[in-house]
Amino acid sequence: MQTVDQSCNKKTGCACATPRRRFLTALWNIGLFALVCQSLLMVVRFFQPGNAARNGGGVIDLGSITDIPAIGEPPKLYREGKFWLVHTEQGVNAYDTACTHLHCLFSWNSEAEQFVCPCHGSRFDRNGVVLQGPAPRDLDRYPVRILDAEGSLLRETDEQGRALSLPVPEQPDSDKEIAGPLPRVQVDTHKKIAGIRRHV
Ligand code: FES
Repeated sequence: MQTVDQSCNKKTGCACATPRRRFLTALWNIGLFALVCQSLLMVVRFFQPGNAARNGGGVIDLGSITDIPAIGEPPKLYREGKFWLVHTEQGVNAYDTACTHLHCLFSWNSEAEQFVCPCHGSRFDRNGVVLQGPAPRDLDRYPVRILDAEGSLLRETDEQGRALSLPVPEQPDSDKEIAGPLPRVQVDTHKKIAGIRRHV
């Protein structure tokens, strides 16, 4: 006849648990601990400066002002920074690649000369202005900065996110045939500027 150890009950816990059960319990606790740690890590990362909003790859150096696409050229996608760079008569702007409706990734339609979102059909012109909803606002953008050769800030996109005009490169000294170091262009994806709201 099989005997039952009375010390094993629900109140006291099972002091006589088999090695297999103890092993499974330990495994479960380790898994739970790892899950909690991972969740905490995600929360910490989310609240780190620069991660408060979805952003790109930090500060992206685009090279000198002569490396920037010329006025009127098609927008250029910088995947590492998650932005489209556009150069118009007004200057340059760096648009976040996510649609301002539900954050689908839009692309440039060269026939229509518009940014088109594949999810619900929103459209934006090359100035980032929403032409067709359901996107409620213009494209979000990141500040563009112009730095001199020493790395000092010369100018930067304003709080409204208007296009930033580029300095005209100096002509080389005809005697020495040497041009001074050219200003550099950077995009700071730590700070997103919301596009203007056009629809409710
Ligand atoms: Fe772009 Fe809906 S996510 S139109």
